Amino acid sequence: MTKLTVSDLDVKDKKVLIRVDFNVPIKNGVIGDDNRIVAALPTIKYIVSHGGKAILLSHLGRIKSEEDKKELTLKPIAERLSELLKQKVTFVPTNEGTELETAISKMSDGDVLLMENTRFQDIDNDFGKRESKNDPKLGEYWASLGDLYVNDAFGTAHRNHASNVGIATAMKKNGKKVAAGFLIEKEIKFLGNAIANPVHPFVTILGGAKVSDKIGVITNLIPKSDHILIGGGMAYTFLAAQGYSIGKSLFEADKVDLAKKLLKEADGKIVLPVDHVAADSFSNDAKREIVSDNIPDGEMGLDIGPKTIELFKKTLQGAKTVVWNGPMGAFEMSNFAEGTLEIGRTLADLPDATTIVGGGDSTAAVKKLGIAPKLTHISTGGGASLEYLEGKTLPGIACISDK
Ligand code: 3PG
Repeated sequence: MTKLTVSDLDVKDKKVLIRVDFNVPIKNGVIGDDNRIVAALPTIKYIVSHGGKAILLSHLGRIKSEEDKKELTLKPIAERLSELLKQKVTFVPTNEGTELETAISKMSDGDVLLMENTRFQDIDNDFGKRESKNDPKLGEYWASLGDLYVNDAFGTAHRNHASNVGIATAMKKNGKKVAAGFLIEKEIKFLGNAIANPVHPFVTILGGAKVSDKIGVITNLIPKSDHILIGGGMAYTFLAAQGYSIGKSLFEADKVDLAKKLLKEADGKIVLPVDHVAADSFSNDAKREIVSDNIPDGEMGLDIGPKTIELFKKTLQGAKTVVWNGPMGAFEMSNFAEGTLEIGRTLADLPDATTIVGGGDSTAAVKKLGIAPKLTHISTGGGASLEYLEGKTLPGIACISDK
């Protein structure tokens, strides 16, 4: 990797600011999924075990009012982190001012401190969204709290915020080092390599509701992929573009011409569903039937059908690199989850393939199946992994110093 990484730093006795992405699902203080916290552990443990003081920053959710602050405090996350690290994590209920500065000054080597949600800075001040609009003064203030800065928040790498780009800019201005953490290093290794140097055959699997969310990915991956399998709601706009009846399935009328253009550009590489699990309403209890080709009026396609599953499985045989983002149907309803689950099972059984999964629903399917250890990489980024697959430069990665 051409970027400076945490293992290039001498962290002993140093105050190391670490931007992590602890933006996890949380309700009434109960964490729904601690994956992102677990994913940040290698970097934190490395810094702690090498005698650094780990000062953590993260956002959680989007703060628009005082009320949001109650639900979106990082306190429960500090507690979970402490359990996972098996060491004390000092939680500071603010991210600016004397209380924070005193707590940092009291840290010993190997200590861990987590300050309050960086997006609390998005309200109640003259600047407006100080964190999310990257107020340079805020980045400078946070940078002043540490000797080194490590960005390990891959999930936030597509944002240009004070706690990633702002701090990095200020640190570099002051001659201090800015490095990537192990998670960002790993994400770049897998997502980056998959796109830059895929071992062929390279199959991309895309799903999810909308074509509009995946245009950039399709455009970027058409020339690199051998096949692009498309399922989920977005498949129906492509099928409509080919002249099929799609009943009342999800459909983006303004994307039909684009779908035609992409199909032409892909020159046979795009593989679409040939049958569907269709239903009369968007409900798990809806009346279901398997239909081939055309979907009758009054019905909607909610999952790929058995022939499509076989076709997709056949196309995946022999693949050496697979990138999967997005469900094949309305995965959240058990009666329409089979297509997505079967894709997961197929990936898990592929011999000698690099398998990379991104996006919330595909990751949820992988978890449900318990196949995570059989896959090469499950990205912690939602928007960030999509933008990476689009070939975009992510500001949170661009701001890291080169070696
Ligand atoms: C994410 O979950 O995609 C990241 O944590 C970024 O969150 P955001 O979309 O609220 O900026």
